[in-house]
Amino acid sequence: MRYLSFALVTLGSLALEHLPPIHYTISRRGGSFPAPDIANLTYLLEQLRVVEQRYNSTTRDFIGNKVVRKPKRPHGTQALSTLLGDVGRDGNWLASLHIGDPIQEVDMDLDMLTADWWIFSTSSGKGSFYLDFNSKTYGKTSLSFRFDAESPLSVPTCREPKDIIHLPTIKRSIPISFALCRPAKQWVSTLLPSGAYLGLAASTVLSQTKTVPLMMQMIEKNVINTPVWSLVLINGKDGIFSIGGTSAPPVRRAKMETDDELARAGNHGMKRDGVVASRSAADIEMEADLSANEWKWSKVQGAEGWWQILMRGIWVDGSKVLENQPIVLDINTPFILAPPVAARAFYSSVSWSRQLPPPYDQFHAYPCFNPPKIHFEFAGWNVEVLKGKREQGTFSPGGRFSLGRMASGSGYCLGIVVESRMGKGMSLGTEAANMGFKTSMEGGNGLEDVWIVGEPFFRDVQVAFNWKEKKVGMQRV
Ligand SMILES: *[C@@H]1O[C@H](CO)[C@@H](O)[C@H](O)[C@H]1NC(C)=O
Ligand SMILES: *[C@@H]1O[C@H](CO)[C@@H](O)[C@H](O)[C@H]1NC(C)=O
Repeated sequence: MRYLSFALVTLGSLALEHLPPIHYTISRRGGSFPAPDIANLTYLLEQLRVVEQRYNSTTRDFIGNKVVRKPKRPHGTQALSTLLGDVGRDGNWLASLHIGDPIQEVDMDLDMLTADWWIFSTSSGKGSFYLDFNSKTYGKTSLSFRFDAESPLSVPTCREPKDIIHLPTIKRSIPISFALCRPAKQWVSTLLPSGAYLGLAASTVLSQTKTVPLMMQMIEKNVINTPVWSLVLINGKDGIFSIGGTSAPPVRRAKMETDDELARAGNHGMKRDGVVASRSAADIEMEADLSANEWKWSKVQGAEGWWQILMRGIWVDGSKVLENQPIVLDINTPFILAPPVAARAFYSSVSWSRQLPPPYDQFHAYPCFNPPKIHFEFAGWNVEVLKGKREQGTFSPGGRFSLGRMASGSGYCLGIVVESRMGKGMSLGTEAANMGFKTSMEGGNGLEDVWIVGEPFFRDVQVAFNWKEKKVGMQRV
């Protein structure tokens, strides 16, 4: 009772009628990012290129006098013929979407750099499938007055039908509209995998389909009422994605227990059923506590589009080596990418570290026995990151800061903080260029000073994203 009155005072109107969030278990496609004893530089460099390509598909531009991120128009193609994002890409974090009647299970990739919610249906035979003609609840009536379901959206190969989706943990089923995209037969994209894609970017300026976002529909239908989603990882391949709030520690424990039971039963096929099994009243109480003191909030800043915030400081072994660094949060990047100047300042504080020669000069090595103690500082809050062992069950030196030894028998390990090359060679938005903004937008995509804080961070910190107020909350795991 005492707790209850306390909660009512502190939460005020926020939680008067707080609806519980929806929790999805998520996993990394293809398993954990490899943690071999000896680092495979060829592989690591390939993975860096993949990250760079994902960032290179957008550019900065203006809407009125506001700087925004926008999809690039590939040369020689029809405007908007392709959607941002890679359905079915190895390394994407994904949840299992339950849709239709009878229920079809479709892999739904999460992407913090894109803003559309769509299902991609190709004839490649790869990926996971949604078959509209197999679903009794597939409806052609559009929810939106703007488009006839049978007429294309602004992306010519997409339509906007609706179907029932079945939500885990709250156990409700609701009709939801989405973009259903089928590339025309002659296009190369018919060779791509099928699957669902959930864009989680901070702003709809990145939306190409211009359909109503999934979370907005859930709010309209009174399924959730807190405009927040959150992510936390349990290890390199499992995590929890929550819509309408955050997951409390008991939910994460329940999730792990469920996995243990499944593992014991030897029933690996069931592991990704997208449902967090058990919930107690205590979970719900804790979920309501979004405004509690342990959440530290930072305002989103920079060009509108992604979850970019300001990191107040970076500390190495107890000394502050950098301050006021803009960072973009992105769970699908397996590294921490730093602008070259920042990366070098960082490693100059790591004893006996050195930069590798080209073509591997984006990497720095340090003595495996002595990984640095790193703290990230946000609005009045310091958190130690990248500490502890690497994946369990593998012998790998250098702690979680390590990508593996430089060579067999070497005492040097590669650091997971790598130099970004993203400020270079990425062109300016044509509209901005035509408007004569060359100097103010030099560097093009605005990423030359920005860190990309990737997956490793989501194991240290639970992150909540408030897409209405455009702010990011953090809490130690
Ligand atoms: C290193 O990675 C490359 C590219 O992914 C791969 O072809 C090669 O087999 C890997 N080498 C080792 C020793 O695993
Ligand atoms: C980025 O994309 C442009 C085309 O839009 C291409 O010319 C350039 O080489 C790409 N840069 C990188 C680093 O991938």
